[in-house]
Amino acid sequence: MKFIGALAATLVAFPAYAAPALMPLPVSVVPNGTDVLRIEGPLKADWQGCGDAAVLDRAATRLGSDIQRQTGLIFDPAKPVAVRSTCRSSQDGADRGEAYRLTVENEGVSIDADGPTGVLRAYASLRQLAGLSPAGIAIAHQTITDAPRFAWRGVMLDPARHFISVATLKRQIDAMERLKFNTLHLHLSDDQGFRVESLRYPKLNADGEYYRQSEIRDLVAYAADRGIRIVPEFDVPGHSRAIVTAYPEVGTFSKTMFLGQPEVALNPASEKTYRFLERLFGEMAPLFPDPHFHIGGDEVSKAVWADAEDVKALMARENLADSKAVEAFFLRRAAGIVRRLGKTVIGWEEVSGAGLPKDSIVQSWQTSNAMADATAKGHRTIMSAGYYLNLLMPADYHYGIDPAATAAAGLTPEHAKALRGISPLLANFVTDALVDFPHAPLSAEQEKLLIGAEAPLWGEIATDELIDHHLWPRAAALAERFWSPASVTDKADMYRRLAVASAQLTVSGLDDKANRQRIAARIAPGDNGAVAGLLAITGPVRNMAHDHRIKAMLAGRRIVQPLNALADTAPVDSLVARRFADEATRYVAGERALGAPLRAQLGDWQVNEARFGAIAAGNPLLEPARPTAALIAAVATAGLDALDALEQGRLLSAAQVQKANELLARLEKEEAASWRPFDSFLRPQPAADLIVKIGPGIRTLVEAAAK
Ligand code: ACM
Repeated sequence: MKFIGALAATLVAFPAYAAPALMPLPVSVVPNGTDVLRIEGPLKADWQGCGDAAVLDRAATRLGSDIQRQTGLIFDPAKPVAVRSTCRSSQDGADRGEAYRLTVENEGVSIDADGPTGVLRAYASLRQLAGLSPAGIAIAHQTITDAPRFAWRGVMLDPARHFISVATLKRQIDAMERLKFNTLHLHLSDDQGFRVESLRYPKLNADGEYYRQSEIRDLVAYAADRGIRIVPEFDVPGHSRAIVTAYPEVGTFSKTMFLGQPEVALNPASEKTYRFLERLFGEMAPLFPDPHFHIGGDEVSKAVWADAEDVKALMARENLADSKAVEAFFLRRAAGIVRRLGKTVIGWEEVSGAGLPKDSIVQSWQTSNAMADATAKGHRTIMSAGYYLNLLMPADYHYGIDPAATAAAGLTPEHAKALRGISPLLANFVTDALVDFPHAPLSAEQEKLLIGAEAPLWGEIATDELIDHHLWPRAAALAERFWSPASVTDKADMYRRLAVASAQLTVSGLDDKANRQRIAARIAPGDNGAVAGLLAITGPVRNMAHDHRIKAMLAGRRIVQPLNALADTAPVDSLVARRFADEATRYVAGERALGAPLRAQLGDWQVNEARFGAIAAGNPLLEPARPTAALIAAVATAGLDALDALEQGRLLSAAQVQKANELLARLEKEEAASWRPFDSFLRPQPAADLIVKIGPGIRTLVEAAAK
């Protein structure tokens, strides 16, 4: 924790508005005296031994214009600032060369990087050091020494479920560069669509929602410029309804029905399937120069092949005992095709026992146990269990899960047991694969095989316009979890820096807050301020509780769920509610000047009920949230009562305390209703699928005024 102290020391040299907030936190930040480097003119970048100058030239131009945009300053051409980089190697090499040392001194900034990507990572730190201040840039003299904990640090996006435009992907790549991510994994095919133009199999693109091959090439180059690889995933043999619908001759349809339709998968018994994959993967692989190629392999239905005569014949011929063995047979063939294309195979954790080549990479997604098992089998492994951003858990939940912990993500055994006791149907769903049992720590050998982690954002309830705010700022906290030393675990400090990183992302062009405003204006053209006020302190219910299609399917119906509700728009982490809680804590601790802003904030929340009610009448997107607005007003009133008592040096009455505690208990119950998977489907959810986030701050005031 030495470097946190060092960082804090650099902070005191700055006025609050300019305080830099590095994220991911570097390995070490050492202040050097009390002087600062002022940046008043354009950056004058040069480099030695760093390979392709054009890439770094573009990176330096980007850095300069980003800093101007962050600060709003006009640079004086007569006052250039030198940014000198030296690379140990002109190539990144297998470890990607991302380590760097950055020194800020009177003469300018100097960077020593392992490879060219290390220069990009140093630029990302410099971008954050320059801050957001319109009052001028003054960077404290210091030396940052930094290297990633994990070589693989990714985000996974899912254009298969809802198509994502190239422009939206590029915005995420821009943000990823700022947070030092290096991998964008795209889930490009699933039941809902196949998203890359295929000239060989054009029926795959019949729905019109796909990337042209030229767009893929452009996107790959755009990401590579920012030190980010794009890894494509084409999911087989399951999650393949789009392929099988277009080319039924390579599929198997179950005779049994599941949720009103036959199940489908690729047909493992037909040579046609493998010829199809040879041609399809043969067309896709060269579009993505990265050496990795993801074949999915997850969630293959046990029933889909059960009644197929040709699969039964295959099982007899190849001596395959069950559907798992059939799946493994298929995966080995598919992996062979990928290897002949010169690529390394990646598959989800289900491929772990399939006998794939030893150099295949396993991506664990259900439990930490699965990561431990895959590394024990000798596979390089990417950890994604615990990092599913589509579950809409707060940043600190994900941040608290270490990628190398062997029992940190997944259902607890106790929770699984309780769920199984509820009904046989549920017991069927809650398999051991979802349960994280106590487990020995990784051996040194296993630790080496854990190459990194990825945060997936599955797209069932994320349209193009919702991507920015579902992904950010939470992904920034995970960028830190994947880059910074394992000892960096202070959640309060993470949130403090996350607020700054989030503001920088917005200033730099991320659409998270702008989108929210646009959506609020669309929902409530008359007074989007009332909607914005409500959205600032609420968040969506978690663990797919807002995915109403699941409940409908379980009830035997299919629905298309519109994704234009307040719960689609509300931020998962309310930084406004966090700031309020922080100010309440400081007020109670004696910072009495905070009484006025706290009172103003509480008053706004209180009056917003009437304002919201006035526009909600007759508006089907707003009506469901009237109880939410009323609850917020009631809780704010309890907070104002507590503030009155504290200001007047008296205690709340017993009746006031009881009322406040009832309201706060209700908020906690509503929060808990979707905190754990499965519970989220079983328990009643709050009005409009919205959780009110101001409870902790109000509780601080009430408790102080009650004793
Ligand atoms: C997955 O979430 N099915 C990998």
